[in-house]
Amino acid sequence: MKKIAFFDAKPYDRTWFDALGQNYDITYFEEKLNHHTAKFTDGFDAVCAFVNDRINALAVERLYQNGVQLIAMRCAGYSNVDVKAAYEKLHIVRVPAYSPHAVAEHTMGLLLTLNRRLHKAYGRTREFNFSIVGLTGVDLYSKTVGVIGTGKIGRAFIEVCRGFGMRVIAYDKFPLKDSGIEYVPLETLLRESDVISLHCPLNDESYHILDQNAFSLMKKGVFILNTSRGALIDSAALLDALNDGIVRGAGLDVYEEEANLFYEDRSDTIMRDDTLALLVSRPNVVLTAHQAFLTEEALHNIAEETVKNLDAFFSGAPLDNEICYLCDRDKAAHGCRKERKERCF
Ligand code: NAI
Repeated sequence: MKKIAFFDAKPYDRTWFDALGQNYDITYFEEKLNHHTAKFTDGFDAVCAFVNDRINALAVERLYQNGVQLIAMRCAGYSNVDVKAAYEKLHIVRVPAYSPHAVAEHTMGLLLTLNRRLHKAYGRTREFNFSIVGLTGVDLYSKTVGVIGTGKIGRAFIEVCRGFGMRVIAYDKFPLKDSGIEYVPLETLLRESDVISLHCPLNDESYHILDQNAFSLMKKGVFILNTSRGALIDSAALLDALNDGIVRGAGLDVYEEEANLFYEDRSDTIMRDDTLALLVSRPNVVLTAHQAFLTEEALHNIAEETVKNLDAFFSGAPLDNEICYLCDRDKAAHGCRKERKERCF
């Protein structure tokens, strides 16, 4: 039986991987995978990792020396993996889509909460305070939502917004043809949107795509939603924009410095991240701890697809969900081995 070291394991992971991963010898580690904890992997064939594991070059080297052959990411994003360092040493697979609807629905949940102050109303009525002063929202109907990134999640969110009768405009580095989506330049999206929602991956080009300059172009009173990756937003610039009233509300499921905070109970420690402390203190910021994916359907799909990735790897089959350093950088120059049903190296 192949041995899998499963990092950052939570009870909800075990439920699904115990049920679907019975052909593997899985050891669950509560620790996140990083260059320190990579030492636990001696004798393992593969590691299974998640969004806040830090698989840098040092971690990759340690895994490689320990005989690990595969990094199985049980998520879509992989900005936390040094793909270049892993190339020709460790294969990397991921789960490209497990429930775009889960993330899209959570994104709309954040918007509804912010707009109609549901978080405030809930607190009030629990104390039998039935005043509705200060809870005024706006109709979302006929408002303009600007969607940055029209992949699987962005498109699912667009459908949700259309259901609310909103006008949708979008920006994507690679716009889809014949999609019926109204694409506009990023600057137009920033200027025209009443709601801006981020659904692109984090990469060199999208890092701080919402920075001070971007906020300066926005309509006063815009809602900002980020269920993608924290570093798409310059958090200090967001705080300024909240203070200046440019941003009416921010719904965040991700935070640029979340790696050592999210997924753990930190309620009895002093919060030393001042930017996060300030964001959380704002009544018009709703923060969830990277849980947009967290539905039963998504957890089932994550486990099922990860097990399929492991099966494919250990049986020598082509890896449909492999991440390739060369393809990511310049597919045209190198050609895609995956498309030829070969492995990336
Ligand atoms: P996808 O790969 O289907 O779509 C991403 C889209 O972004 C593509 O259309 C791509 O062309 C576009 N894009 C790439 N670089 C861009 C740039 N610099 N500017 C504008 N557009 C750009 O990805 P999917 O499945 O829709 O996921 C989107 C993101 O959602 C993931 O990268 C991940 O970070 C995040 N995510 C968050 C989850 C959560 O629980 N909060 C769960 C799953 C994903």
